[in-house]
Amino acid sequence: MNILFVCLGNICRSPAGENIFRHAVKQAGVADQWEIDSSGTEAWHTGKGPDARMTKTLESRGIEVTGKARQISEQDLQDFDLILTMDNENFANVCKLDTKGHYGGKIKKFTSFCKQHTETEVPDPYYGGQDGFELVADMLEDGCTSIIETYSQ
Ligand code: 4NP
Repeated sequence: MNILFVCLGNICRSPAGENIFRHAVKQAGVADQWEIDSSGTEAWHTGKGPDARMTKTLESRGIEVTGKARQISEQDLQDFDLILTMDNENFANVCKLDTKGHYGGKIKKFTSFCKQHTETEVPDPYYGGQDGFELVADMLEDGCTSIIETYSQ
């Protein structure tokens, strides 16, 4: 399966999702079943690596962090099987890209997979402190585990 994580800037939440998921599928022994990427609804940070605070948060959990920011395109809706948005604004903006209404079934809110967390959005950590980055990582680890349980064979 091809999975795409989507947030606003593609430097905090969605690259964290991408790297946490890549780590988790390796741990689960199902890495060969997945193609994994991330993107942002905005192009502000195109070409940049993940935010240093997000990188530090993940590396302290033993997770390797790679990737360069890019903006989501209409083509991504065709190419990916599962498109997971971090908050309601991301969800609305990705749905807007689906102008013909062909891909709605693939576009899902990431938090719908969380089992330990009841929040309905992964909150934007960009203007906050370290606690926000830890919460994002906790929520992403929770949902990624459940995505693997749901879709891996
Ligand atoms: P992300 O966080 O959407 O999780 O990558 C943000 C990154 C950058 C900005 C906002 C949120 N920004 O305003 O530049």
